[in-house]
Amino acid sequence: MRIAATADLHFTGAGHDALLEQLNRVRDSADVLVSAGDLTNFGQPEEMDPLLNVVVRSRVPTIAVLGNHDYESGKQAELMRMMGAAGMKVLDGTAYERDGVGFAGTKGFVGGFGRGALTAFGEPQIKQFVQASIDEALKLERAMALLRSEKRVVVLHYSPVSETVTGEPQEIYPFLGTSRLAEVVDRHGANLILHGHAHHGRLDGRTTAGIPVHNVAITLLQAQQPSCAYRVFDV
Ligand SMILES: [Fe+2]
Ligand SMILES: [Fe+2]
Repeated sequence: MRIAATADLHFTGAGHDALLEQLNRVRDSADVLVSAGDLTNFGQPEEMDPLLNVVVRSRVPTIAVLGNHDYESGKQAELMRMMGAAGMKVLDGTAYERDGVGFAGTKGFVGGFGRGALTAFGEPQIKQFVQASIDEALKLERAMALLRSEKRVVVLHYSPVSETVTGEPQEIYPFLGTSRLAEVVDRHGANLILHGHAHHGRLDGRTTAGIPVHNVAITLLQAQQPSCAYRVFDV
């Protein structure tokens, strides 16, 4: 299966003609499209609409997770409904199998990496914050436990490793993802992990167990030679 992956489109509803044109052609090079969050800029339905039109017209099965920007207006449930109605498969702690390939996805959350990961100690506010990170890891755990296929692809918005956020200011690493997500994938096994969110990170990394991790933020893909709107992976 050829998987075209992208993230962080940050649609605002207008002025994305070149990008829409590129997405229109995704069917020529891939069997499915993965969108790893931040589809919209402010989480408004008007921003999602033009993107969905293109996806429907491209006739490529599309699998997506939401990103933090898609939550900005508190309309994430409405966005998910719109995406579902347009035929997109939205993963939120859920799994989806297609042509022998299993996809498990969730948004993920912040929290930091390795020894730098924030732990649930001290004030109740810290515990609450850390719990949100643990909850997303548990959602991923549930999604992965549902997969029966040998080939598995994990879709996240936040990064599961620090390697693919390298290039961003070091001060913000803890806000770009958490290794709690990688621990889950390492336990269950996967062929690859796709994520976005770190617009100025690095394309490729690996988990501790050696599972390939790819940051498909469109800003990174567009900075490559040749520039592209998505990257294609063979699974
Ligand atoms: Fe983003
Ligand atoms: Fe983001």
